[in-house]
Amino acid sequence: MNKISKLAVLTSGGDAPGMNPCIRAVVRTALYNGIEVVGVRQGYKGLIENDMYDMDKRSVSNILNLGGTILKTARCLPFKEDEGMAIAYKHLKERGIDGLVVIGGDGTFTGALRFSRKYPDIAVMGVPGTIDNDLYGSTYTLGFDTATNTVIQAIDKIRDTADAHDRLFFIEVMGRDSGAIALRAGISCGAEAILLPEKQTALEDLIKNLKEGKSNKKSSSIVIVAEGDKNGGVYDVAKAVQQEVKDYDVKVTILGHLQRGGSPSSFDRILGSRLGFAAVNALIAGESQKMVGLQANHILLTSLDDALNNHEFKLEADLLQMADILSI
Ligand code: F6P
Repeated sequence: MNKISKLAVLTSGGDAPGMNPCIRAVVRTALYNGIEVVGVRQGYKGLIENDMYDMDKRSVSNILNLGGTILKTARCLPFKEDEGMAIAYKHLKERGIDGLVVIGGDGTFTGALRFSRKYPDIAVMGVPGTIDNDLYGSTYTLGFDTATNTVIQAIDKIRDTADAHDRLFFIEVMGRDSGAIALRAGISCGAEAILLPEKQTALEDLIKNLKEGKSNKKSSSIVIVAEGDKNGGVYDVAKAVQQEVKDYDVKVTILGHLQRGGSPSSFDRILGSRLGFAAVNALIAGESQKMVGLQANHILLTSLDDALNNHEFKLEADLLQMADILSI
């Protein structure tokens, strides 16, 4: 017998391409197993405001190719408070919901874990959905592949014009606490330097590197700056460098939210489908307070606590090492 008879699904925090394929998989896997499904609008806000609706097979038709999330999303401060959680719990119980699938990143999981510890009679399963790729327990998070490809396409275009004008570009990419997009995009686009929150680069070293490049006949240079880099932000870095590297014409581009949009890549459609399918099956098997994740091409469970707090998670050492070497 199913341990779950009715589940709710929500997306929370920053949207990520691949959330829609995941919602589709959750809904259809649940229905296939005789479990009713409720969609929650705008993440935890919808739980508090009781903004939910019954979903059927057709509720998720033709959404595989859509970016964003059909359930909408929000960052919800009231859910951090006991009072907000109590209201959310009441609304879930009134609807007879005994399982909850939350698709999101670290903020989403922090809320889910606290909620689930307070109200353990509602089983909670997390799906890693964030372009930041910063959760322990899944080599890739939903949306990271699409976002990185979006960034690469944009930087390739900037390289064309940078090269035509012999310019030095500083390009800010997303990642408040994570350099995952910056690192992969940097290697993929041959960036001359990559500034990451995880690894401090001294400005003197950056300047030396760029001067060397210029004297080695590099026509253009690209420096990728992750949002969370600790050198004071992309404009400050560009200004500091311009003062020292006078023979380069310096420009700044902030890619911003275009990085989060767009149709999910094949990888994110498959990943979303696998994770959504696995999340429902894990709930059926009686699991709770866990996250489904991709590890060595297998879908495995990790506790939400570990997903959030296990600091073994790091950017790949070989990528960090080759970033400098391959861009000489
Ligand atoms: O968490 C995903 C993310 O895209 C981060 O990389 C970025 O710093 C943040 O969200 C931006 O959030 P918001 O859209 O709320 O400004």
